[in-house]
Amino acid sequence: MRIFHEPESLKKHLSSVKTDQKSIGFVPTMGALHEGHLSLIDAAKNTTDKVVASIYINPTQFDNQSDLDAYPRVAEQDLEMLKNRGCDIVFLPTDTIMYPKPSQLNISFGSLENTLEGKERPGHFNGVGLIVSKLFHLILPDHAFFGQKDYQQFLIIDQLCQELFFPLRLHCMPIVREANGLAMSSRNGRLSKLAFKEAGLIYDSLLRAKAALLDGIHIPMIKEEIKNFYAGQKNFDLAYFEFRNKYNLQAVDEQMEPKDMIICIAVYCENVRLIDNLIINS
Ligand code: PAJ
Repeated sequence: MRIFHEPESLKKHLSSVKTDQKSIGFVPTMGALHEGHLSLIDAAKNTTDKVVASIYINPTQFDNQSDLDAYPRVAEQDLEMLKNRGCDIVFLPTDTIMYPKPSQLNISFGSLENTLEGKERPGHFNGVGLIVSKLFHLILPDHAFFGQKDYQQFLIIDQLCQELFFPLRLHCMPIVREANGLAMSSRNGRLSKLAFKEAGLIYDSLLRAKAALLDGIHIPMIKEEIKNFYAGQKNFDLAYFEFRNKYNLQAVDEQMEPKDMIICIAVYCENVRLIDNLIINS
């Protein structure tokens, strides 16, 4: 596995890969890797000739300095995991490389951004759009792999690729879960043992809401039941629980069929923000 810290040497290496007519699959990450990230590496390996992963904790997408400070930094362990999984190339840049000076660019994603995570974390998707654009320009992948875990982020990147004509194919891969149903996340390590165990109820609540929807129960009633359920959980503080149009994350109406919907949740557990979602028809 080759490791690059500098864009110039990375680009030189990748241009020789391209000259050999090999396709490039890219998996951007912020490190603290788990099976969810590694499932993206597997998908990239199954689809492309050379797999590039990046590890970079992007400061511009954090709306909160303490969240940035608390983000786990375990590069050695990450590199070991990537190597064992057969990743070919890793890009590990520094802040000075990715942001030689503070960025003045501001990418807005319109209605897709002004809801759910974008609404709760101002500036977050601008930061994601910036860093992913920079990485795409440096790496020029043929395929890029993202997780459904951050579904709004996937739609944002899709919009970015369409509007800026990035010549690549995007893939949205399924959510990898712990045995109790909790979606894997680099943030889960900040939970106490008890909270980690209890956090299985997040996925349970998504499944319950899906079953109720398919039973024909009206959405406001389902939301009410779920809100009451979380109100009774002392370790959990619900930020949102929403049924949305899965193509644009806008509000659903009475006519919309369940197969076009996604249920999205954000919940605080011991001050750790956890997100999850369930596409009704997947
Ligand atoms: P990060 O949180 O490290 O996630 C990297 C990729 O792994 C994302 O596409 C995310 O959706 C996916 N992922 C995370 N948990 C997953 C799970 N349980 N199952 C499947 N996939 C999962 O997302 C980011 O980093 C950053 O915003 C980034 C795109 C790298 C830009 O900085």
